[in-house]
Amino acid sequence: MLEQRFHTIIEPFRIKTVEPIRFTTREERAVALDAADYNPFRLRAEDVMIDLLTDSGTGAMSSWQWAGMMRGDESYAGGRSFATFEAAVRGICGYPHVIPTHQGRAAERILFACLVEPGDLVPSNTHFDTTRANIEARGGEALDLVVSDAYDPASPHPFKGDVDLTRLEEALAQRERRVPLAMLTITNNSGGGQPVSIANVRAAAKLCRLYGVPLFLDVARFAENAWLVKQREPGYATRSPLEIAREMFALADGCTMSAKKDGMANIGGFLALTDDDLASRCKEDLILTEGFPTYGGLAGYDLEAIAVGLYEALDEDYLRYRIRTMEYLSERLVAAGVPLLQPPGGHAVYLDGRAFLSHVSSEQYPAWALGLALYLEGGVRGVEVGSVMFGRRPDGSESPAPLDLLRLAFPRRVYTQSHVDYLIEVVLSVWERRHLVGGVRIIEQPLALRHFSARFAPVAAALVAEA
Ligand code: F0G
Repeated sequence: MLEQRFHTIIEPFRIKTVEPIRFTTREERAVALDAADYNPFRLRAEDVMIDLLTDSGTGAMSSWQWAGMMRGDESYAGGRSFATFEAAVRGICGYPHVIPTHQGRAAERILFACLVEPGDLVPSNTHFDTTRANIEARGGEALDLVVSDAYDPASPHPFKGDVDLTRLEEALAQRERRVPLAMLTITNNSGGGQPVSIANVRAAAKLCRLYGVPLFLDVARFAENAWLVKQREPGYATRSPLEIAREMFALADGCTMSAKKDGMANIGGFLALTDDDLASRCKEDLILTEGFPTYGGLAGYDLEAIAVGLYEALDEDYLRYRIRTMEYLSERLVAAGVPLLQPPGGHAVYLDGRAFLSHVSSEQYPAWALGLALYLEGGVRGVEVGSVMFGRRPDGSESPAPLDLLRLAFPRRVYTQSHVDYLIEVVLSVWERRHLVGGVRIIEQPLALRHFSARFAPVAAALVAEA
């Protein structure tokens, strides 16, 4: 740990391999944006200078992970790397059955294929979009029951990821619909990367046990959640992130994991659980769709990288640096008056699009427009989590999402403080001239998951007028 008298949180690593960033001019970016039909997902990554589209699979691996990859055992069955992976996952989660998958959504799909029937209800704090889509693909209904503070961007509530226990009990107690499982997303990504308290997981688990419903955790960012619990929940200040994580896992019946986040890997995931019979059924589906149970959808070297990464994600110096980066960015923006979701989450800062561009109507997608302005201004790419992502219902009708946010998600161990300082300058520059930023309209869109491929056009002639 750094000595307390020093305030600068330095990156707790040295850089051994570098990847050049191609600097672009504003004119080049204007051309790129037009060619991409004003959809950041359609940009070429090499035209982006600071890429905050996602923290998923975009992190830098450590020398120990790369060393692990050289140890990878590529045997089809019974490989040594699986034993290493299984022991690493069990050491944190404690669940006896560990099923490797190629990424998180494969673990979700397999679990729901074995549990969810048409008409079933699956409550959660907030389902991530792949989780929701996989439940809906089974004919089930994904129910979001997060506490009401989560919908107030300014509320300083320390655990805005908590599930509303009263509404959870109502869902569990009703008799019209089957509830085959309940879930909690930890941290709550779609709700702003907000943590879930251990007290809330404990209370939710108790309710689930009372109604005989298994509780599964979506733990893509379990280590960041453990750190935020350590910082914010009474009684946890002296506990290690590993101890806190173990306590959380012990309350549930299983988990789905995207190892592309707190597994510190570029690909991978797993499903881990206690129930023997359910595990056998999941493994049958795994063999059909992913691969043999000792490699799932992964290479032996991926299993090694994840086995190391899961513990690196729990390192206190790393977590302090990571969460402090979010706080630092957030403090500097808030001091200048920039509206953002409070308090900052674990993996990202979420700008409040509606408050930032208060002159742009919700129907003209302010958070999306803000994302385009940040790209044009400084080559920064974020992702809209708002009405483009969530505003369209399966029947094609449309209504604005409760929050219209621009997520700036940080790849792990990739950017340094000077990148963050540059980002702050870019955001403030747009903030100062925000009245010049116009909205956008959709000119072509697919039926589902439209944000990935829809084409847009700016409503005003310029997104940010020339200085
Ligand atoms: N659960 C959560 C909470 C997630 O954030 C993600 C992915 C998944 C599950 C699915 O995992 O991508 O490995 O299949 N989130 C990424 C993001 C895509 O940008 O937030 P996956």
